[in-house]
Amino acid sequence: MSTTTCVQLDELQKKPTSFHRCIFSGPSLNSTAIKEEKTSLVSQTEDARQSVLLLKGVREQYTLVNDHTIPAILNPGEILVKVLAIGLNPIDWKAPAFNFGIPSLPWINGRDLAGLVLQVPGENSRVRVGDIVLVPSTDYRDIRKAAFQEYAIATDFNAARIPSSTSIHASASLGVAFVASVLALGVSFGLDFSVLSKSPGPNLPQIISQLDRNDIPADIQDECFASESERPQRGDWVAIWGASTTTGLVTLQLAKLAGLRVICVADVARHGAKLLESGADLLVDRHDTERAVEIIRGVTGGKLRYAIDIVGKDTAALLEKTLDPSGHSHLLGLTGLPKERNPGIRYHTVPIKLFHTAPTVGESMVRWLEDLLESKTLTLPEIVRAEGGLEGINAALDLLRSGSVSGKRIVVGLDS
Ligand SMILES: NC(=O)c1ccc[n+]([C@@H]2O[C@H](COP(=O)([O-])OP(=O)(O)OC[C@H]3O[C@@H](n4cnc5c(N)ncnc54)[C@H](OP(=O)(O)O)[C@@H]3O)[C@@H](O)[C@H]2O)c1
Repeated sequence: MSTTTCVQLDELQKKPTSFHRCIFSGPSLNSTAIKEEKTSLVSQTEDARQSVLLLKGVREQYTLVNDHTIPAILNPGEILVKVLAIGLNPIDWKAPAFNFGIPSLPWINGRDLAGLVLQVPGENSRVRVGDIVLVPSTDYRDIRKAAFQEYAIATDFNAARIPSSTSIHASASLGVAFVASVLALGVSFGLDFSVLSKSPGPNLPQIISQLDRNDIPADIQDECFASESERPQRGDWVAIWGASTTTGLVTLQLAKLAGLRVICVADVARHGAKLLESGADLLVDRHDTERAVEIIRGVTGGKLRYAIDIVGKDTAALLEKTLDPSGHSHLLGLTGLPKERNPGIRYHTVPIKLFHTAPTVGESMVRWLEDLLESKTLTLPEIVRAEGGLEGINAALDLLRSGSVSGKRIVVGLDS
Protein backbone atom coordinates (compact mmCIF):
# COMPACT_ATOMS: atom_id res chain seq x y z
CA MET A 1 0.00 0.00 0.00
CA SER A 2 1.40 3.36 -1.01
CA THR A 3 2.02 6.03 1.52
CA THR A 4 1.59 8.99 -0.81
CA THR A 5 -1.24 10.64 1.04
CA CYS A 6 -0.03 9.66 4.46
CA VAL A 7 3.35 11.19 3.80
CA GLN A 8 1.55 14.40 3.03
CA LEU A 9 -0.46 14.05 6.20
CA ASP A 10 2.67 13.37 8.19
CA GLU A 11 4.04 16.57 6.72
CA LEU A 12 0.90 18.30 7.79
CA GLN A 13 1.36 17.04 11.32
CA LYS A 14 4.75 18.72 11.36
CA LYS A 15 2.95 21.93 10.52
CA PRO A 16 0.52 21.37 13.39
CA THR A 17 -3.12 21.47 12.53
CA SER A 18 -6.12 19.76 13.96
CA PHE A 19 -7.57 16.49 12.67
CA HIS A 20 -8.96 13.29 14.05
CA ARG A 21 -7.92 10.53 11.71
CA CYS A 22 -5.28 9.67 9.16
CA ILE A 23 -5.91 8.03 5.80
CA PHE A 24 -3.96 5.49 3.77
CA SER A 25 -4.14 5.66 0.03
CA GLY A 26 -3.61 3.27 -2.84
CA PRO A 27 -0.81 3.55 -5.38
CA SER A 28 -2.34 6.48 -7.20
CA LEU A 29 -4.87 9.02 -6.11
CA ASN A 30 -7.08 8.01 -9.01
CA SER A 31 -7.50 4.59 -7.50
CA THR A 32 -7.41 5.71 -3.92
CA ALA A 33 -8.56 3.16 -1.41
CA ILE A 34 -9.25 5.05 1.72
CA LYS A 35 -9.19 3.71 5.23
CA GLU A 36 -9.56 5.76 8.35
CA GLU A 37 -7.54 5.42 11.56
CA LYS A 38 -7.63 7.35 14.77
CA THR A 39 -4.79 9.67 15.55
CA SER A 40 -4.43 12.16 18.30
CA LEU A 41 -5.70 15.68 18.06
CA VAL A 42 -3.03 18.23 17.42
CA SER A 43 -4.14 21.75 18.04
CA GLN A 44 -3.91 24.32 15.30
CA THR A 45 -1.29 27.00 15.77
CA GLU A 46 -0.53 30.26 14.07
CA ASP A 47 2.75 28.71 12.82
CA ALA A 48 1.03 26.44 10.31
CA ARG A 49 2.18 27.55 6.83
CA GLN A 50 1.28 26.59 3.30
CA SER A 51 1.97 27.50 -0.33
CA VAL A 52 -0.60 29.66 -2.09
CA LEU A 53 -0.88 31.39 -5.44
CA LEU A 54 -1.36 35.06 -4.74
CA LEU A 55 -2.72 37.75 -7.03
CA LYS A 56 -0.78 40.85 -6.08
CA GLY A 57 -2.10 43.25 -8.72
CA VAL A 58 -4.65 43.40 -11.54
CA ARG A 59 -3.41 42.37 -14.98
CA GLU A 60 -0.54 40.56 -13.25
CA GLN A 61 0.37 36.89 -13.19
CA TYR A 62 -0.20 34.99 -9.95
CA THR A 63 2.81 34.68 -7.60
CA LEU A 64 3.71 31.55 -5.65
CA VAL A 65 4.14 32.30 -1.93
CA ASN A 66 5.37 29.55 0.40
CA ASP A 67 4.79 30.98 3.85
CA HIS A 68 1.11 31.82 3.85
CA THR A 69 -1.05 30.96 6.84
CA ILE A 70 -3.18 27.83 6.64
CA PRO A 71 -6.79 29.06 6.78
CA ALA A 72 -8.60 28.51 10.06
CA ILE A 73 -12.06 27.20 10.77
CA LEU A 74 -14.03 30.18 12.08
CA ASN A 75 -17.72 29.29 11.72
CA PRO A 76 -20.03 26.37 12.54
CA GLY A 77 -20.25 23.79 9.77
CA GLU A 78 -16.83 24.51 8.30
CA ILE A 79 -14.35 21.83 7.25
CA LEU A 80 -10.63 21.91 6.43
CA VAL A 81 -9.68 20.32 3.11
CA LYS A 82 -6.25 19.41 1.79
CA VAL A 83 -6.45 20.39 -1.88
CA LEU A 84 -5.53 17.55 -4.26
CA ALA A 85 -6.77 18.91 -7.59
CA ILE A 86 -7.92 22.28 -8.94
CA GLY A 87 -10.25 22.76 -11.91
CA LEU A 88 -9.62 25.97 -13.85
CA ASN A 89 -12.55 28.22 -14.80
CA PRO A 90 -12.53 31.11 -17.30
CA ILE A 91 -13.06 33.53 -14.40
CA ASP A 92 -9.62 32.59 -13.00
CA TRP A 93 -7.95 34.52 -15.84
CA LYS A 94 -10.81 36.95 -16.59
CA ALA A 95 -10.96 38.34 -13.03
CA PRO A 96 -7.37 39.65 -12.99
CA ALA A 97 -7.41 40.57 -16.70
CA PHE A 98 -10.58 42.66 -16.49
CA ASN A 99 -10.41 43.58 -12.78
CA PHE A 100 -13.65 42.16 -11.46
CA GLY A 101 -14.52 39.68 -8.71
CA ILE A 102 -11.39 40.57 -6.72
CA PRO A 103 -12.49 41.79 -3.25
CA SER A 104 -9.03 43.23 -2.39
CA LEU A 105 -5.34 42.76 -3.12
CA PRO A 106 -3.38 40.65 -2.58
CA TRP A 107 -6.00 37.91 -3.11
CA ILE A 108 -6.25 34.16 -3.66
CA ASN A 109 -8.50 32.96 -6.51
CA GLY A 110 -9.69 29.57 -7.68
CA ARG A 111 -13.27 28.28 -7.82
CA ASP A 112 -13.11 24.49 -8.14
CA LEU A 113 -11.25 22.02 -5.98
CA ALA A 114 -11.23 18.39 -4.94
CA GLY A 115 -9.44 17.26 -1.82
CA LEU A 116 -9.16 15.29 1.36
CA VAL A 117 -11.20 16.25 4.42
CA LEU A 118 -8.88 16.79 7.38
CA GLN A 119 -11.14 18.43 9.93
CA VAL A 120 -14.91 18.44 10.43
CA PRO A 121 -17.20 20.38 12.77
CA GLY A 122 -18.20 17.33 14.82
CA GLU A 123 -19.68 13.85 14.82
CA ASN A 124 -22.88 15.10 13.16
CA SER A 125 -21.17 16.58 10.12
CA ARG A 126 -22.41 15.17 6.83
CA VAL A 127 -18.81 14.65 5.72
CA ARG A 128 -16.15 12.80 7.69
CA VAL A 129 -12.40 13.09 8.08
CA GLY A 130 -10.84 11.01 5.29
CA ASP A 131 -13.60 11.68 2.77
CA ILE A 132 -12.56 12.88 -0.66
CA VAL A 133 -14.82 15.75 -1.64
CA LEU A 134 -15.29 18.18 -4.48
CA VAL A 135 -16.02 21.76 -3.54
CA PRO A 136 -17.43 24.46 -5.84
CA SER A 137 -15.99 27.56 -4.19
CA THR A 138 -18.68 30.09 -5.11
CA ASP A 139 -18.02 32.16 -1.97
CA TYR A 140 -15.07 33.96 -3.59
CA ARG A 141 -15.24 36.85 -1.11
CA ASP A 142 -13.97 34.49 1.61
CA ILE A 143 -10.27 34.07 0.82
CA ARG A 144 -10.08 31.00 3.08
CA LYS A 145 -12.26 29.11 0.59
CA ALA A 146 -10.21 29.81 -2.55
CA ALA A 147 -8.84 26.85 -4.52
CA PHE A 148 -5.33 28.13 -5.37
CA GLN A 149 -3.83 27.02 -2.06
CA GLU A 150 -2.73 23.79 -0.40
CA TYR A 151 -5.43 23.87 2.28
CA ALA A 152 -8.88 25.40 1.97
CA ILE A 153 -11.94 25.90 4.15
CA ALA A 154 -15.39 24.84 2.94
CA THR A 155 -18.76 24.37 4.58
CA ASP A 156 -20.00 20.81 4.89
CA PHE A 157 -23.19 21.72 2.99
CA ASN A 158 -21.10 22.81 -0.01
CA ALA A 159 -18.86 19.72 -0.19
CA ALA A 160 -19.89 16.67 -2.24
CA ARG A 161 -18.34 13.32 -1.42
CA ILE A 162 -16.71 11.62 -4.41
CA PRO A 163 -17.23 7.88 -4.84
CA SER A 164 -13.98 5.88 -4.70
CA SER A 165 -14.46 4.87 -8.36
CA THR A 166 -14.53 8.50 -9.52
CA SER A 167 -11.36 10.28 -10.61
CA ILE A 168 -10.37 12.99 -8.15
CA HIS A 169 -8.97 15.10 -10.97
CA ALA A 170 -12.07 14.83 -13.14
CA SER A 171 -14.31 15.67 -10.19
CA ALA A 172 -12.36 18.90 -9.65
CA SER A 173 -13.65 20.02 -13.05
CA LEU A 174 -17.34 19.81 -12.30
CA GLY A 175 -18.39 21.91 -9.31
CA VAL A 176 -19.06 25.46 -10.52
CA ALA A 177 -20.55 24.18 -13.79
CA PHE A 178 -22.91 21.92 -11.83
CA VAL A 179 -23.96 24.70 -9.43
CA ALA A 180 -24.59 27.14 -12.30
CA SER A 181 -26.57 24.55 -14.29
CA VAL A 182 -28.74 23.43 -11.38
CA LEU A 183 -29.55 26.98 -10.28
CA ALA A 184 -30.25 28.09 -13.86
CA LEU A 185 -32.67 25.26 -14.57
CA GLY A 186 -33.95 24.66 -11.04
CA VAL A 187 -34.29 28.21 -9.67
CA SER A 188 -34.35 30.69 -12.57
CA PHE A 189 -36.59 28.40 -14.67
CA GLY A 190 -38.10 26.62 -11.65
CA LEU A 191 -37.60 23.07 -12.99
CA ASP A 192 -38.61 20.46 -10.40
CA PHE A 193 -35.86 17.82 -10.23
CA SER A 194 -37.72 15.76 -7.61
CA VAL A 195 -39.99 14.18 -10.23
CA LEU A 196 -37.17 12.61 -12.27
CA SER A 197 -37.59 8.87 -12.67
CA LYS A 198 -33.81 8.33 -12.60
CA SER A 199 -31.75 9.94 -9.80
CA PRO A 200 -34.35 12.45 -8.58
CA GLY A 201 -32.99 15.71 -7.21
CA PRO A 202 -34.28 18.68 -5.26
CA ASN A 203 -37.40 20.73 -5.88
CA LEU A 204 -35.56 24.01 -5.35
CA PRO A 205 -38.57 26.38 -5.58
CA GLN A 206 -40.18 24.35 -2.78
CA ILE A 207 -37.00 24.48 -0.64
CA ILE A 208 -36.68 28.21 -1.26
CA SER A 209 -40.32 28.78 -0.30
CA GLN A 210 -39.43 27.57 3.23
CA LEU A 211 -36.75 30.29 3.55
CA ASP A 212 -37.23 33.75 4.98
CA ARG A 213 -36.82 36.17 2.04
CA ASN A 214 -34.66 38.38 4.27
CA ASP A 215 -32.14 35.54 4.74
CA ILE A 216 -31.38 35.63 1.01
CA PRO A 217 -28.99 38.31 -0.32
CA ALA A 218 -31.06 41.26 -1.57
CA ASP A 219 -29.62 41.21 -5.10
CA ILE A 220 -30.86 37.67 -5.80
CA GLN A 221 -34.21 37.74 -3.97
CA ASP A 222 -36.32 38.46 -7.06
CA GLU A 223 -34.56 35.74 -9.06
CA CYS A 224 -35.09 33.21 -6.26
CA PHE A 225 -38.76 33.96 -5.63
CA ALA A 226 -39.88 34.10 -9.28
CA SER A 227 -43.17 32.41 -10.12
CA GLU A 228 -43.22 28.61 -10.22
CA SER A 229 -46.09 28.62 -12.69
CA GLU A 230 -43.69 29.27 -15.57
CA ARG A 231 -41.59 26.14 -14.98
CA PRO A 232 -40.73 23.98 -18.01
CA GLN A 233 -42.69 20.79 -18.55
CA ARG A 234 -41.46 17.49 -20.04
CA GLY A 235 -41.16 17.83 -23.80
CA ASP A 236 -40.60 21.59 -23.75
CA TRP A 237 -37.68 22.89 -25.81
CA VAL A 238 -34.69 24.65 -24.25
CA ALA A 239 -31.92 26.16 -26.37
CA ILE A 240 -28.34 26.38 -25.08
CA TRP A 241 -25.90 28.70 -26.88
CA GLY A 242 -22.43 27.52 -25.93
CA ALA A 243 -23.47 23.90 -25.38
CA SER A 244 -19.86 22.66 -25.69
CA THR A 245 -18.79 24.62 -22.61
CA THR A 246 -18.38 22.62 -19.42
CA THR A 247 -21.47 24.37 -18.07
CA GLY A 248 -23.35 23.66 -21.29
CA LEU A 249 -22.55 19.96 -21.22
CA VAL A 250 -23.78 19.65 -17.63
CA THR A 251 -26.91 21.71 -18.39
CA LEU A 252 -27.66 19.50 -21.39
CA GLN A 253 -27.42 16.35 -19.27
CA LEU A 254 -29.64 17.70 -16.48
CA ALA A 255 -32.22 19.05 -18.94
CA LYS A 256 -32.39 15.66 -20.67
CA LEU A 257 -32.83 13.90 -17.31
CA ALA A 258 -35.84 16.18 -16.77
CA GLY A 259 -37.32 15.19 -20.13
CA LEU A 260 -36.74 18.47 -21.96
CA ARG A 261 -35.85 18.66 -25.64
CA VAL A 262 -32.51 20.41 -26.01
CA ILE A 263 -31.21 22.51 -28.89
CA CYS A 264 -27.42 22.80 -28.73
CA VAL A 265 -25.67 25.68 -30.46
CA ALA A 266 -21.95 24.91 -30.80
CA ASP A 267 -19.23 24.19 -33.32
CA VAL A 268 -20.95 21.08 -34.64
CA ALA A 269 -17.94 19.70 -36.50
CA ARG A 270 -15.87 19.88 -33.34
CA HIS A 271 -18.36 18.99 -30.62
CA GLY A 272 -21.38 17.44 -32.37
CA ALA A 273 -20.54 13.81 -31.59
CA LYS A 274 -20.13 14.47 -27.88
CA LEU A 275 -23.31 16.56 -27.73
CA LEU A 276 -25.32 13.82 -29.46
CA GLU A 277 -23.90 11.26 -27.01
CA SER A 278 -25.05 13.50 -24.17
CA GLY A 279 -28.59 13.56 -25.53
CA ALA A 280 -28.84 16.67 -27.74
CA ASP A 281 -32.08 16.67 -29.75
CA LEU A 282 -30.92 19.24 -32.29
CA LEU A 283 -27.45 20.48 -33.17
CA VAL A 284 -27.09 23.97 -34.63
CA ASP A 285 -23.75 25.22 -35.84
CA ARG A 286 -22.61 28.38 -34.09
CA HIS A 287 -20.65 29.94 -36.94
CA ASP A 288 -23.49 31.21 -39.18
CA THR A 289 -25.37 33.03 -36.46
CA GLU A 290 -28.29 34.37 -38.55
CA ARG A 291 -28.92 30.90 -39.94
CA ALA A 292 -28.73 29.47 -36.41
CA VAL A 293 -31.50 31.83 -35.28
CA GLU A 294 -33.62 30.86 -38.31
CA ILE A 295 -33.14 27.14 -37.65
CA ILE A 296 -34.16 27.43 -34.00
CA ARG A 297 -37.21 29.51 -34.86
CA GLY A 298 -38.16 27.12 -37.63
CA VAL A 299 -37.83 23.92 -35.60
CA THR A 300 -39.73 25.32 -32.60
CA GLY A 301 -42.36 27.02 -34.76
CA GLY A 302 -41.48 30.35 -33.13
CA LYS A 303 -42.76 29.01 -29.79
CA LEU A 304 -39.46 28.57 -27.92
CA ARG A 305 -39.85 29.66 -24.26
CA TYR A 306 -36.53 28.76 -22.60
CA ALA A 307 -33.02 29.73 -23.65
CA ILE A 308 -29.68 29.80 -21.87
CA ASP A 309 -26.67 31.69 -23.19
CA ILE A 310 -23.24 30.62 -21.90
CA VAL A 311 -21.06 32.75 -24.19
CA GLY A 312 -21.75 36.49 -23.92
CA LYS A 313 -24.24 39.29 -24.48
CA ASP A 314 -23.99 39.18 -28.30
CA THR A 315 -25.02 35.54 -28.45
CA ALA A 316 -27.63 36.20 -25.73
CA ALA A 317 -29.09 38.82 -28.11
CA LEU A 318 -29.20 36.20 -30.88
CA LEU A 319 -30.98 33.75 -28.59
CA GLU A 320 -33.42 36.49 -27.63
CA LYS A 321 -34.53 36.56 -31.27
CA THR A 322 -35.38 32.86 -31.15
CA LEU A 323 -37.87 33.23 -28.26
CA ASP A 324 -41.63 33.65 -28.45
CA PRO A 325 -42.08 37.26 -27.23
CA SER A 326 -45.58 36.73 -25.84
CA GLY A 327 -44.66 37.33 -22.19
CA HIS A 328 -43.95 33.76 -21.03
CA SER A 329 -40.45 33.20 -22.40
CA HIS A 330 -37.26 33.14 -20.37
CA LEU A 331 -33.71 34.08 -21.35
CA LEU A 332 -30.90 33.36 -18.91
CA GLY A 333 -27.46 34.84 -19.51
CA LEU A 334 -24.51 33.33 -17.66
CA THR A 335 -22.08 35.80 -19.16
CA GLY A 336 -24.25 38.84 -19.86
CA LEU A 337 -27.62 39.81 -21.31
CA PRO A 338 -28.61 42.21 -24.11
CA LYS A 339 -28.78 45.88 -23.06
CA GLU A 340 -32.12 46.53 -24.76
CA ARG A 341 -34.93 44.53 -23.16
CA ASN A 342 -37.93 43.07 -24.97
CA PRO A 343 -41.02 43.51 -22.73
CA GLY A 344 -42.32 40.15 -23.94
CA ILE A 345 -39.36 38.22 -22.50
CA ARG A 346 -38.28 37.61 -18.89
CA TYR A 347 -34.55 37.92 -18.27
CA HIS A 348 -32.54 35.95 -15.73
CA THR A 349 -29.07 35.80 -14.23
CA VAL A 350 -28.05 32.76 -12.24
CA PRO A 351 -28.30 33.36 -8.44
CA ILE A 352 -24.97 31.61 -7.85
CA LYS A 353 -24.48 32.85 -4.27
CA LEU A 354 -27.63 31.02 -3.17
CA PHE A 355 -25.48 27.88 -3.10
CA HIS A 356 -23.33 29.12 -0.21
CA THR A 357 -25.77 31.48 1.52
CA ALA A 358 -28.69 29.05 1.89
CA PRO A 359 -27.53 25.82 3.62
CA THR A 360 -30.69 23.85 2.77
CA VAL A 361 -30.30 24.72 -0.90
CA GLY A 362 -26.55 23.99 -0.95
CA GLU A 363 -26.97 20.68 0.88
CA SER A 364 -29.80 19.50 -1.37
CA MET A 365 -27.60 20.20 -4.39
CA VAL A 366 -24.47 18.43 -3.14
CA ARG A 367 -26.53 15.44 -1.97
CA TRP A 368 -27.99 15.19 -5.47
CA LEU A 369 -24.52 15.51 -6.99
CA GLU A 370 -23.29 12.67 -4.77
CA ASP A 371 -26.16 10.52 -6.01
CA LEU A 372 -25.56 11.46 -9.67
CA LEU A 373 -21.88 10.52 -9.32
CA GLU A 374 -22.54 7.30 -7.38
CA SER A 375 -25.10 6.13 -9.96
CA LYS A 376 -22.88 7.36 -12.82
CA THR A 377 -25.89 9.23 -14.18
CA LEU A 378 -23.81 12.33 -14.82
CA THR A 379 -20.86 12.11 -17.20
CA LEU A 380 -17.92 14.12 -15.93
CA PRO A 381 -16.23 16.68 -18.18
CA GLU A 382 -13.22 15.51 -20.16
CA ILE A 383 -10.08 16.94 -18.64
CA VAL A 384 -6.57 17.89 -19.57
CA ARG A 385 -4.10 17.57 -16.71
CA ALA A 386 -1.65 20.43 -16.33
CA GLU A 387 1.73 19.85 -14.72
CA GLY A 388 3.58 21.87 -12.14
CA GLY A 389 1.17 22.13 -9.21
CA LEU A 390 0.31 25.64 -8.04
CA GLU A 391 3.29 27.00 -9.93
CA GLY A 392 1.93 25.58 -13.19
CA ILE A 393 -1.36 27.48 -12.95
CA ASN A 394 -0.19 30.66 -14.73
CA ALA A 395 0.82 28.66 -17.82
CA ALA A 396 -2.36 26.59 -17.64
CA LEU A 397 -4.49 29.76 -17.51
CA ASP A 398 -2.67 31.09 -20.59
CA LEU A 399 -3.63 27.85 -22.34
CA LEU A 400 -7.25 28.22 -21.21
CA ARG A 401 -7.34 31.83 -22.39
CA SER A 402 -5.96 30.85 -25.81
CA GLY A 403 -9.04 28.66 -26.42
CA SER A 404 -6.87 25.83 -27.73
CA VAL A 405 -8.14 23.39 -25.10
CA SER A 406 -11.71 23.27 -26.32
CA GLY A 407 -14.47 21.12 -24.85
CA LYS A 408 -12.25 20.03 -21.96
CA ARG A 409 -11.50 21.35 -18.47
CA ILE A 410 -7.89 21.96 -17.45
CA VAL A 411 -7.16 20.42 -14.05
CA VAL A 412 -4.02 20.99 -12.00
CA GLY A 413 -2.98 18.27 -9.57
CA LEU A 414 -1.36 19.11 -6.22
CA ASP A 415 -0.80 15.49 -5.31
CA SER A 416 2.46 14.76 -7.12
N1 LIG B 1 -22.42 33.66 -13.75
C1 LIG B 1 -21.92 32.57 -13.21
O1 LIG B 1 -22.04 32.33 -12.03
C2 LIG B 1 -21.19 31.60 -14.08
C3 LIG B 1 -21.00 30.27 -13.67
C4 LIG B 1 -20.36 29.40 -14.54
C5 LIG B 1 -19.87 29.86 -15.77
N2 LIG B 1 -20.05 31.16 -16.09
C6 LIG B 1 -19.54 31.67 -17.38
O2 LIG B 1 -19.98 30.83 -18.43
C7 LIG B 1 -19.01 30.80 -19.46
C8 LIG B 1 -18.65 29.35 -19.76
O3 LIG B 1 -17.95 28.81 -18.68
P1 LIG B 1 -17.38 27.33 -18.75
O4 LIG B 1 -16.44 27.18 -17.63
O5 LIG B 1 -18.50 26.38 -18.86
O6 LIG B 1 -16.60 27.45 -20.13
P2 LIG B 1 -15.53 26.49 -20.84
O7 LIG B 1 -15.80 25.08 -20.47
O8 LIG B 1 -14.18 27.02 -20.64
O9 LIG B 1 -16.02 26.76 -22.35
C9 LIG B 1 -15.18 26.75 -23.45
C10 LIG B 1 -16.07 26.48 -24.67
O10 LIG B 1 -16.71 27.68 -25.13
C11 LIG B 1 -16.99 27.49 -26.50
N3 LIG B 1 -17.25 28.76 -27.18
C12 LIG B 1 -16.40 29.80 -27.31
N4 LIG B 1 -16.98 30.78 -28.03
C13 LIG B 1 -18.22 30.35 -28.40
C14 LIG B 1 -19.28 30.91 -29.16
N5 LIG B 1 -19.19 32.12 -29.71
N6 LIG B 1 -20.40 30.17 -29.32
C15 LIG B 1 -20.51 28.94 -28.77
N7 LIG B 1 -19.53 28.35 -28.05
C16 LIG B 1 -18.39 29.05 -27.85
C17 LIG B 1 -15.72 26.82 -27.00
O11 LIG B 1 -16.06 26.02 -28.08
P3 LIG B 1 -15.31 26.09 -29.51
O12 LIG B 1 -14.57 24.81 -29.63
O13 LIG B 1 -16.45 26.19 -30.46
O14 LIG B 1 -14.43 27.31 -29.54
C18 LIG B 1 -15.31 25.93 -25.81
O15 LIG B 1 -15.73 24.59 -26.00
C19 LIG B 1 -17.82 31.62 -18.97
O16 LIG B 1 -17.91 32.93 -19.49
C20 LIG B 1 -18.02 31.64 -17.46
O17 LIG B 1 -17.42 32.77 -16.86
C21 LIG B 1 -20.70 32.04 -15.31
